[in-house]
Amino acid sequence: MLRDNALSGKHVVVTGGGSGLGKSMTRYFLELGAKVAITSRDLNKLKTTAAELEKETGGVCLPLQCDVRDYTQVENMLQETVKAFGEVNVLLNNAAGNFIAPTERLSANAFDTIIDIVLKGTKNCTLAFGKHWIAQKQTQTVVLNIVTTYAWTGSAYVVPSATAKAGVLAMTRSLAVEWAKYGMRFNAIAPGPFPTKGAWDRLLPGDLKEKIDMAKKVPLNRVGDHQELANLAAYLISDFSAYINGEVVTIDGGEWLKGAGQFNLLDQIPEALWDQLEAMIRAKKST
Ligand code: HXC
Ligand code: NAP
Repeated sequence: MLRDNALSGKHVVVTGGGSGLGKSMTRYFLELGAKVAITSRDLNKLKTTAAELEKETGGVCLPLQCDVRDYTQVENMLQETVKAFGEVNVLLNNAAGNFIAPTERLSANAFDTIIDIVLKGTKNCTLAFGKHWIAQKQTQTVVLNIVTTYAWTGSAYVVPSATAKAGVLAMTRSLAVEWAKYGMRFNAIAPGPFPTKGAWDRLLPGDLKEKIDMAKKVPLNRVGDHQELANLAAYLISDFSAYINGEVVTIDGGEWLKGAGQFNLLDQIPEALWDQLEAMIRAKKST
């Protein structure tokens, strides 16, 4: 979508960049000339991904182990990135944990685990990078957070994730105002269904994948393509979006609005039946 080298000079950290959407966004950032550090708990996976993406794009991709739940590991990851790239100017908080479960079946630790990865992890990275940028008097920096549309609608059966993502959205909007004076921009992306192994194995386990067709929930009648999300992310971390701050951009084919609109289910009514319904409604006008 963007011109060649549109991200040249951008030094990006993508948490959870070894798989799924993080990997797809990283690939496009590299294609556009950014240097990218990818981080997660699994160093072997990160090394494999980094080698694959470097070969594919000719870019520079640095694999760094970091559990975002641990503030010391986050600070070390930041220092390692600065050491390798000279400076870092973009943080993409993408790492997440999630699974479907009736809430009453969750242990306290299960609930904490999701909150810790999503909310505390995003807080750890944002605080470490923000403090660093302020101390360095570094400006034109960007934090992009991956949330979900249920950050504002809520959702049954993924309550820890919904709770944590709502917190991340509040953090995005709050810091967009508070830290703008330091030259930081904060935005979020709320993706609808984009097939990834990580999400699908935990949200649609077993034959749920066949039973629940995610595309049917979407007005555009399809799931998202990873490149579509990568295009949006590249734009939001680029200088082309320099006046966008505190925004959450939904990319879901209209999915959440379809669930919300009171009469949206009327799209199930066949065309022929509308003649009868219209006649019935018009007849009421005279009574
Ligand atoms: C109930 C469960 C559970 C389940 C784990 N637990 N799975 N409880 N139902 N299915 C409980 C465990 O018993 C334990 O509690 C606690 O959760 C922690 O589990 P661990 O396995 O020790 O945790 P950990 O190794 O840190 O793994 C974290 C994880 C795992 C979240 C459980 O799934 C993971 O690593 N996920 C990372 C990737 C991921 O989730 N990607 C999907 C993102 S998708 P006790 O009490 O027994 O100790 C996404 C999409 C949003 O966010 C929107 C889509 C449309
Ligand atoms: P994914 O491949 O499972 O990505 C999650 C990543 O987070 C993994 O690479 C994982 O790597 C990393 N991670 C988990 N716990 C971590 C921890 N404690 N520290 C550091 N990294 C950790 O799933 P995905 O679908 O691409 O999800 C990416 C993002 O998109 C998430 O924020 C998710 O909520 C969001 N999202 C996805 C969809 C969708 O339809 N796919 C929809 C809405 C929002 P390790 O296991 O190696 O640590």
